[in-house]
Amino acid sequence: MSNTCHSGRKKIYARTILSMKGEKKIVMVTAYDYPIARIVDEAGVDAILVGDSLGMVVLGYDSTLHVTMNDMMRHVSAVSRTRPCALITADMPFMSYEPSTKDAIFNAGRLVKSGAEAVKLEGGSEIIDIIKAIVSSGIPVMGHIGMTPQKANRLGGYRRMGKTESEKRMLLEDAKLLDEAGVFSIVIEFTKADVAKKITESITVPTICIGAGPYCDGQVLVIHDILGLSSFVPPFAKTYVNLPEIIKEAVEQYSKEVRNGVFPEPQHYK
Ligand code: KIV
Repeated sequence: MSNTCHSGRKKIYARTILSMKGEKKIVMVTAYDYPIARIVDEAGVDAILVGDSLGMVVLGYDSTLHVTMNDMMRHVSAVSRTRPCALITADMPFMSYEPSTKDAIFNAGRLVKSGAEAVKLEGGSEIIDIIKAIVSSGIPVMGHIGMTPQKANRLGGYRRMGKTESEKRMLLEDAKLLDEAGVFSIVIEFTKADVAKKITESITVPTICIGAGPYCDGQVLVIHDILGLSSFVPPFAKTYVNLPEIIKEAVEQYSKEVRNGVFPEPQHYK
């Protein structure tokens, strides 16, 4: 472990992210493999999230509930082999932390041994003791509240949270508990913007939002949404490039050249 990484940038740790609150907007993006992790790190993001969204955007499942510890460890190690300057945070998949504090510490440790520098857990008051235990074991924890996809069955599907006064109160309460429990940041997903604003102003750690408006300390997006690779892009995400079109054109050109004998050319075999 060293404080410098490639391109002369400083290595970003969980405490770096913590210190960015109120100073500089935090940029986080997901990545699940070596080539994309290398590119997003070279683009200068602050944090890479190996999210359990990989279940949907990479593995083709209809939810994140199917993602296993083995899936997460394989993808975390691929990302970590790029030795990025950005902080690598790994999602703890569904049922890797809920059964017991012992399971949670054990599985958080397996993600760190695979190359994660922090872990993210979905939930608030119901998992506070688990979060405290992981933090006490020396592993930085990122919280995740609002629309928490691992709990979509209980929440009644994928819906914007914080519409009612009681939901607003509960989200603020959860954020404060997470702050006190020692998380270094909190993802707020798919809430009303005023809810995320109130939370951001009420806690000491940075908020990193997705679909929760502009008042947070940072933003996170799923890389497949940015690149136009997702089969479904949520309305709060922004697609910056139509990568499927570019890939299709390249492969069509390659196919044409193979079929009419243009590829390979002498420089490819001499
Ligand atoms: O799994 C994921 O990609 C996430 C983000 C949507 C925050 O948790």
